[in-house]
Amino acid sequence: MLTVIRKATLSRFLELSTNSSSLRARIVVARMMSSCNQDYDQKVVPKDEVIRFIKESMCKVGTMTEDACIVAHQLMVADYRGHFSHGMNRLEMYITDIEKRITDPTARPQIINDFQAVALVDGKNGLGQVIGKYCMELAIEKAKKFGIGMVAARGSNHYGISGYYTMMAMEQGLIGFNCTNTSPLMVPTRSTKSALGTNPLSFGMSTCDGDEFLLDMATTAVALGKIELAVQRNENIPEGWALGSDGKVTCNAEEAYRVSSLLPLGGSERNSGYKGYGLGLMVEILCGILSASHFGLNIRNWKSGDTAANLGHCFIVINPNAFDCGSKERLTILLKQMRDLPSFCNEPVLIAGDPEKQHMKKIDMEGGLTYHSNQLKILQEISKRIGVRPLKLISKSV
Ligand SMILES: NC(=O)c1ccc[n+]([C@@H]2O[C@H](COP(=O)([O-])OP(=O)(O)OC[C@H]3O[C@@H](n4cnc5c(N)ncnc54)[C@H](O)[C@@H]3O)[C@@H](O)[C@H]2O)c1
Repeated sequence: MLTVIRKATLSRFLELSTNSSSLRARIVVARMMSSCNQDYDQKVVPKDEVIRFIKESMCKVGTMTEDACIVAHQLMVADYRGHFSHGMNRLEMYITDIEKRITDPTARPQIINDFQAVALVDGKNGLGQVIGKYCMELAIEKAKKFGIGMVAARGSNHYGISGYYTMMAMEQGLIGFNCTNTSPLMVPTRSTKSALGTNPLSFGMSTCDGDEFLLDMATTAVALGKIELAVQRNENIPEGWALGSDGKVTCNAEEAYRVSSLLPLGGSERNSGYKGYGLGLMVEILCGILSASHFGLNIRNWKSGDTAANLGHCFIVINPNAFDCGSKERLTILLKQMRDLPSFCNEPVLIAGDPEKQHMKKIDMEGGLTYHSNQLKILQEISKRIGVRPLKLISKSV
């Protein structure tokens, strides 16, 4: 009887929280629900089902099937690689922006300037993933022709994980780089005000024997999505990620999310946080300054989201064959040198991209992705609201 009452109350709470999008209501719901949903821990969502759900959800709010497939694959890959903050966790934001007519899901990117190895693209306020894929394909084409290709984009939206586009170049035997500006969340060293985004960047190159270096990182200590997930999971955050309302470092995820003042990569000035701050500015120059998108404090607030984001991205592709031959062989040796280094703990020295590979292996063994029960509840509620078949969970394989 108690369970029935509790579930009914929770459903009402969830309805209210979904309608109001109030963080506090969501946290209350998430916490109440986490205590009665332990069975979700043994369930997974197959990758195809993740794609099906996102694709149908995006189509439901007016996205063309082809574009919905691009978004669905990109978000699934984020979760598959272990970056749950930037996978299905972002679906609700995309849907809301489309419903509020802040993002145009039918827009097509347009080339504004095209001069040899360089191009400028206007995303026309379309979906970030669609614009990102278009620009990276253009940069790849140019790199094949000129040895290097560089495309800057404006008029874009949140494009998900940066590593996705880098992998597109790596799959063609090329070196990939890309970055994006984002809403102000980072507090520059010595300031108390967020003025730059989490401005992620990614760089990658494959070896000749199946190994690779794939760096994909925010230029803040962490992406805001990681704090959001900690809130959903009712966990504390490590020291050095964010400031609280008193301007001091906080470990309270809820407060960190509310205040949204992220420290640059490195943390405080004493811990060389100014290097992360410098990298964040570098990304802003490549994205906002070159493309004439919004930049710095001009970018919309992350949470209010009531105007077009007009984000800027930058994509660079290099053909290693345009330089001295044997780069891939030399990279094989370099990565092996790192992997063979002595370790001070029982864990081996890794190369950027390894943690993601380990995560994908685990997902493959388990037969699908494990989502936190609170995230699943939110997704089921979205499916009910927009009229999409709910996610189908299956039992873990191992
Ligand atoms: N679109 C956006 O607005 C936006 C904003 C911020 C972040 N993001 C994305 O969020 C994701 C998470 O970013 P993050 O900074 O929290 O990533 P992270 O800190 O989890 O990982 C950063 C990088 O470090 C590497 N790494 C991790 N442990 C390592 C080890 N022991 N040795 C060597 N390398 C190691 C990883 O492979 C990865 O390349 C990224 O995919 C990023 O693109 C997107």
